[in-house]
Amino acid sequence: MPVFRLSKEVLAGTAVLGAFAAGVIIGKKWAILHFGTRNMHNTLPKRDDPLIDYVLRHSLREHPLLKKLRLRTMEEPEGMIMVCCDQAQFMANLAKLICAKKVLEIGVFTGYKALNMALALPDDGKVVGCEVNNDYINIGKPFWKKAGVEHKIDVRIKPAIETLDELLVAGEAGTYDFAFIDADKQSYNEYYEKCLRLVRKGGIIAIDNVFWHRKVLKPDKNDTACQAIQHLNEKILRDVRVNISMITMADGVTLAFKL
Ligand SMILES: C[S@@+](CC[C@H](N)C(=O)[O-])C[C@H]1O[C@@H](n2cnc3c(N)ncnc32)[C@H](O)[C@@H]1O
Ligand SMILES: *[C@@H]1O[C@H](CO)[C@@H](O)[C@H](O)[C@H]1NC(C)=O
Ligand SMILES: *[C@@H]1O[C@H](CO)[C@@H](O)[C@H](O)[C@H]1NC(C)=O
Repeated sequence: MPVFRLSKEVLAGTAVLGAFAAGVIIGKKWAILHFGTRNMHNTLPKRDDPLIDYVLRHSLREHPLLKKLRLRTMEEPEGMIMVCCDQAQFMANLAKLICAKKVLEIGVFTGYKALNMALALPDDGKVVGCEVNNDYINIGKPFWKKAGVEHKIDVRIKPAIETLDELLVAGEAGTYDFAFIDADKQSYNEYYEKCLRLVRKGGIIAIDNVFWHRKVLKPDKNDTACQAIQHLNEKILRDVRVNISMITMADGVTLAFKL
């Protein structure tokens, strides 16, 4: 695997963040880029924590096409919703650990995480992606292709619930090894329940943004996304169908291991 190095390209990526980069994170550009910018929210650990910079510099082994896709994604106004790089790498490592072949991705965006997964899967592996916005997919596709893994990524452009129901009707229950839930937060509970059916025993469901920018500490009744995440966090704590770990990475990731 290529060793991650800071380069002019990364600097260029910082420049395209424009006013935000210049005005808000001057002097902190490494962390914000490597962190997939999720840390612009008030997450743990702090984006200006030098330790995080150290962690990224000493653990991120970003494939050249992942890096190119990240920089391209950051040119989009909503680029900051991209998954964090270290988190994507962690999940790809987990998928490899459990010898995953079939992976579900709920909320693909430009496919940084989907590409990371596809690179980790065997050649006959498959990432089934759910996404409503085809424009995002069209940004990612050329990079998947150049990385030689386009054939492993199958994105269905429609609401994720519909795709998950179709997979269940097609008899794919219990056949997925890994699922990543990272789309609209209000539907998190439904995604979780459907993923629990689609994932095999011993498979993993990863749920993103479980801290909701730390707002779960003080949920606002008007914040329906926060409420949905809060409810799911409470439910999973007591869910005997899974063993769990809540990881303090990025905006919080719960790993549910299906029993
Ligand atoms: C946080 S982004 C996903 C980031 C992505 N996992 C990555 O690797 O960078 C959330 C995505 O979910 C998509 N989305 C929102 N609602 C959806 C739905 N009902 N069904 C499928 N995708 C949806 C959005 O268009 C957006 O691209
Ligand atoms: C919640 O919404 C209600 C009605 O729109 C509003 O009166 C109230 O101030 C809001 N509360 C918060 C904490 O934003
Ligand atoms: C689940 O967690 C319990 C309690 O920590 C443990 O005893 C059990 O072995 C775990 N099950 C699996 C399948 O890992």
